[in-house]
Parts: sequence; structure tokens; C-alpha cells
Amino acid sequence: MTDQTAIPAGIDLREEIDRLRKERNAVILAHYYQKPELQDLADFVGDSLELSRKAAETDADVIAFCGVKFMADTAKILSPEKIVVLPDMDAGCSLEDSCPPDKFRAFRERHPDHIALTYINCSTEVKALSDVIVTSSSAETILSQIPESQPIIFGPDRHLGGYLNRKFDRDMLLWPGVCIVHEAFSEKELLKLKAQHPDAPIAAHPECPPHIIDHADHVGSTSSILQYAKTFPGDTLIVATEPHIIHQMEKALPEKTFLGAPGADGNCNCNICPYMALNTMEKLYLCLRDLEPRIEIEEQLRLDAKKSLDKMLEMAGGTVGKGDLGDPDGD
Ligand code: 13P
Ligand code: SF4
Repeated sequence: MTDQTAIPAGIDLREEIDRLRKERNAVILAHYYQKPELQDLADFVGDSLELSRKAAETDADVIAFCGVKFMADTAKILSPEKIVVLPDMDAGCSLEDSCPPDKFRAFRERHPDHIALTYINCSTEVKALSDVIVTSSSAETILSQIPESQPIIFGPDRHLGGYLNRKFDRDMLLWPGVCIVHEAFSEKELLKLKAQHPDAPIAAHPECPPHIIDHADHVGSTSSILQYAKTFPGDTLIVATEPHIIHQMEKALPEKTFLGAPGADGNCNCNICPYMALNTMEKLYLCLRDLEPRIEIEEQLRLDAKKSLDKMLEMAGGTVGKGDLGDPDGD
């Protein structure tokens, strides 16, 4: 557990983080769901695929990962020689939690003719049990390279898997996991908001359940939604994903209005990812200073997990932030 009382009184955290970043030859990577102040001081902000690529390519000695644990694990799997620190080791993910490796192994064993196409939001152990990893920005490109005759298990997100099944007329077997954040959007409240802004299109992440996706004008990864925000016609956009991404939209397009899709009671905070929210400026400062908490992965497990990640990087090709899942009607 990090001792936050160890932060000297009166220090300028931003200046100290900058000093430590240079001193350590560290790169700060941040996901779009991080608090605005963390996004603003990161060297690179991106979606899961872009952050994996950055982690694999960087020549920094230290990667400070402002995201959740499966993302920092991915960085360590791809860059084992680097020190990878995560500001808060409890920054997990409900999808990862939904898929214990022993149960996933048993599921695979029950379907020996299936390959496992697995969403990156899972543990290193589950990656090691998988054939190909996908992110929401690379899933379509990768799935389209797998012959239709090949049976597939898709886990752990049943909503992303279901969306891909519907869009590409596949019948992948789905692991029953969900993201608690995207699951919390309310269709009733979304329709109320839409009635107030009838001209505003809706952009949704494919982790949303079908009753939200059905109302979306654009479905895609975080980078894809961001790209759509830069090009949609009109002046107001309804955003059905974790609301911290709106920070990037407001920076890029201050003249436009971005409305977070509502949760069950219309204005709960249930769409803020509680895991992502654990990272703070204070914890980032401490992890750069102490180089703890650090991601460590046993070497054979790392090598086993790396195979499915390498396959993703190879099959995803140039897929980065292009809005690959695009229009839900497939146009
Ligand atoms: P992206 O790959 O779209 O950034 O999604 C990551 C994630 O955890 C969404 O909940
Ligand atoms: Fe996991 Fe959902 Fe949080 Fe993404 S938003 S990290 S899928 S819990």
C-alpha cells in the first residue's frame, strides 16, 4: 500500500512529476478514461491498442501507466526489460474479474475445436490461454481475417462479442462478462436526453448492451468515438462511454457540446469507471519517485501471453483510431 502521507507538504506535484519523468527517463501513458489532469500531463493518451503499441515501441526505461492493471500488464508483457509502474495496483476491471483463468481453461477444454479470440480486458493468465487478443479498435479487422468456418470462443465481454456476432453474422460462443460501467447506461434516460436534443447523434462504445447500441449512430472504440466527435455533423453529441473521454473532445472542439449518456437515475456517477478513478496525481508522483507499485510477471507466463498479443499486433496491421467498428449498420 502506498503511503500518501510521505508526500512532502507544499510541493508542486506537476513540477515534481516532470522532474521525475526526466530523471527516470520515464514515459507516462494514459487512457482516455483517466482524470483530465492525468491525461494532460501524459506523454501519450490513447485507446488500449494505441497504448499497447506505445508500450512496445518506447525507448524509455520506465513506463508509468495511468490506466488499469490489464493495460499495465500488457505493457510489461510487451516490454519486459522496462520498469512498469501503475499508480494504484487495485485499478482492476470488471471484465477481467468476470473471467477467472481456471474457469476459462475449462470452457476452452469443453470446446476443443474452437479458437479463443479474447478481448484485451482480461488477465495475463487468460491471455496465455488465448489464441488472439483483440481490442475494440482492432476486433473487426482481426475477425474479418478468420474464416467463417472456424468456430470461435469470444470472451470476456458478451456485449462486444454480441455486437460483432450481429454485425458480421457470426456465432461466436460468448463468455458472460460485462463492463459494469457500460452496463449502467439507461435506455429510458438516453431516450429522454435524445428527445431534448433530437439532432444530436449518439456515439457508443461496443461494451454497451444492445438496447443502447440500437440507438447509436456510431459504435466504436474510445479513439474511434473521438474521431467521430471531430467529424460528426451538428453541434451536440451524446457520448455513451466513460465520460472522462469528453475532456479530449472539449479540448479539440470547444465550440461543440458533448453530453454524457445518463445512468439509471439520470445523473448518477455510475458511468465513471471506479477502477480508472483510483489513479491520482499524488499516486502518480509516488510511483515515479519510488518506482512502486511495479508490475512483475513470471517469465514463462509472460512468453505464453505474448503469443496472443503478438498475433493481435500482427493481424491489426495499421488499425489505430480509425473508427474500425464504425457505423452500426455496417455502411
Ligand atoms: P478502448 O480500447 O476502446 O480504449 O477500451 C478500453 C476499455 O476499457 C473500455 O472500457
Ligand atoms: Fe474495465 Fe469497464 Fe473500467 Fe473499461 S470501463 S476498465 S471495461 S470496468
